[in-house]
Amino acid sequence: MITVKNEVFHLQNNGSSYLFRIRDGYPEHLYFGTQVETGDAEALAPAPGCGWGGSTLYSERSNACCLDILPLEWSGAGRGDYRESPLELSVEGSPVSTDFRFSGYEILKEQPASALPLSRGQSVLALRLSDKEAGLRLTLYYGVLPTVFTRRAVLENCGERPVSIRKFMSACTELQGPFVLHTFSGGWVAEAQHTVTPVTMARVCLESTTGASSNRANPGFMLAAPGSTETDGAVYGFNLLYSGSHYLSVQQSLQGVTRVLQGISPANFEWTLAPGETFETPEVVMAYSGRGFGGLSERLHTYINQNLIPPYWQNRPRPIIYNSWEGCMFDFTESRLLRLGKTAARLGCELFVLDDGWFGARDSDTGSLGDYAVNFKKLPHGLQGLGKKLGAMGLGFGLWMEPESVSHDSELYRAHPDWALHDSLGRENLLGRHQLLLDLTNPSVRDYIVQSVNVILDSAPISYVKWDMNRHSCVLGKMQHAFVLGLYDVLHRIFDSRPEILLESCSSGGNRFDCGMLYFSPQIWCSDDTDPVERLRIQTSLSYLYPPSTFGAHVSASPHAQTLRATPLSTRGNVSLFGCLGYELDLSELLPVEQAEIRNQIAFYKEHRRTLQYGRFSRSETDGGGIVWQMQTEAETVAGVFHGLQPAAPGYERLAVSGLDAEKRYRMESRRQLLRVGDFGTLLRHVLPVKLNPNGLAVSAADSHYKMYDGAQVLTASGAAFAAGVQLAPRFTGTGYDANGRMQSDFGSNVYAIKEVSTHEPH
Ligand code: DGJ
Repeated sequence: MITVKNEVFHLQNNGSSYLFRIRDGYPEHLYFGTQVETGDAEALAPAPGCGWGGSTLYSERSNACCLDILPLEWSGAGRGDYRESPLELSVEGSPVSTDFRFSGYEILKEQPASALPLSRGQSVLALRLSDKEAGLRLTLYYGVLPTVFTRRAVLENCGERPVSIRKFMSACTELQGPFVLHTFSGGWVAEAQHTVTPVTMARVCLESTTGASSNRANPGFMLAAPGSTETDGAVYGFNLLYSGSHYLSVQQSLQGVTRVLQGISPANFEWTLAPGETFETPEVVMAYSGRGFGGLSERLHTYINQNLIPPYWQNRPRPIIYNSWEGCMFDFTESRLLRLGKTAARLGCELFVLDDGWFGARDSDTGSLGDYAVNFKKLPHGLQGLGKKLGAMGLGFGLWMEPESVSHDSELYRAHPDWALHDSLGRENLLGRHQLLLDLTNPSVRDYIVQSVNVILDSAPISYVKWDMNRHSCVLGKMQHAFVLGLYDVLHRIFDSRPEILLESCSSGGNRFDCGMLYFSPQIWCSDDTDPVERLRIQTSLSYLYPPSTFGAHVSASPHAQTLRATPLSTRGNVSLFGCLGYELDLSELLPVEQAEIRNQIAFYKEHRRTLQYGRFSRSETDGGGIVWQMQTEAETVAGVFHGLQPAAPGYERLAVSGLDAEKRYRMESRRQLLRVGDFGTLLRHVLPVKLNPNGLAVSAADSHYKMYDGAQVLTASGAAFAAGVQLAPRFTGTGYDANGRMQSDFGSNVYAIKEVSTHEPH
């Protein structure tokens, strides 16, 4: 709801309020937090009193009108506010001051059309500001959605001279109080490292300059009141609907107001705005929760699932994927793929994704990007033949592509070297993964991509696309932004008319895990690191900002290719269950017991898919040091308990389950997970009547025939007992096999389903 009264603007959604007013012609920020009333404006407004010494007064008539100390919704440069400005302009090479004053407002039913992604279903306030001397009009758009607010800014040159934009932020948000900044930076295979920085008067910046939102600096972040926990405390979350280089700065003023600027990276940015032209910034999304990090995640997850991803995929079950990449890389034939497909279908997978290597002469990553003719040596019956045969096995068919890139060694590059992005001074091309980016600012290049991809999509029964992008940009500022606009244009043109194709975005793993891509692709490949220990961390970090329905999460081989760490198959499965489950390993190398374990994982996932993809997610810990992920719907709860290194003689451990009705009774049952006989190593000699070599043939044979269950546990208890913490089965203590114990070694885990006991069932 948007209320405007006496120049007080009040945005309200389910549980939060955002208030500002016009003071002396400026939009003064008043409040962002738990829902309040419009009439509270005066009581919530900061009181600058008779001003501060050393300040430059905007008007001699009012001591209070000193822009430097007011919390503002926007601020110019050179008019007394010496904090970082959201806008920097120059005219004819010289910086100019800006001074935007309120000129009116409109309430709109929806956002005006835009070349950039915008949240869906917003009611909108357009606040008009103008700077007469500079000949500029600025519109600040505010959007209201059930769990978040949005902001963006549009600048129009109404003057007679071109204006150069050097920096233009999407929003300037000012919040009062001490804060701690939570960011998620990293790199390839090490995405989303949760970093906590106190907010002080020293400015903290988070920036990507690579042309992508990047694995170095995820655009999402949180500002939390010091001491906030998962369940308590004031926490603000921000994100940006943008997939290019971006910028965030956070700095506290002497008055205790934190200015938050977020938008396109100003690094080397220079965009000329001719008279009559407009420039629009990407949309910022912001949420508040007084219920700690958990409450904030819930609001952001609801927003992404309901108001951001493509409507066709909202609440729609995501298929269980088998992906060829880690199992085959470039080395496959149709018959090998079909053998894998047959096993994948038998295990319960629903969609077979053919990853890189199906076109041109692409037998390694050194060439052929851009040449999307099918390699008939590998696929004698083409994509259509393969897709149909997979279809006959009951599998959907998905395809990898990297349309934004071109290999240096490719027919496309030889034919159109000018279609690639080059250094502005014509220096020798620097390659990344032996490739260049295509110039998506060039309409002919975009037409080529749209046409090539359309031909491929129409040539076979393709129901899923993995859209990859594997290098950083070699151009700067304006060109990077124009590239992102080109990318969005291409994605609209290909996929708007094919809503039923499930698009999974990928960029060397999580190099473009952002809300701009989520507008098109409901899920994103989180990381090329599928080691479950790393994924536990990466997915935990991402879960602060993004729901598990957006996580492409696959089980891969052990020891892991990126970490050389050996982990139990059960844990690899258990981590991937909390996301969009898939398998990415050579299935022909699996032992029968491993196939049975995968079958169990998939059966469990299918039974609880709604909860695991769209449930309410929360993070906690057991009192035995286990990390807990919980997903909950009206119907049930699924909780995963994950451990690191296994201690000798581990103690008791309780799992607390939140969100249940204290007075109802619930039944908890563990997922039936299987162990290999060989996992017991030399212990076999002690527990079996015969002496067996743990690496010998007899044990391998036993692995093929015996099922050893791990952590089988069933209990019933009241919701009150679950809230207090129910006892988990004992962990392995070195004394022997117990099917009802948790036979864990390092990185062990278990998953539990908790359902209300029907009143007819005996307790
Ligand atoms: C990088 C991706 O992150 C991988 O999953 C895989 O698709 C490769 N590209 C293929 O080249």
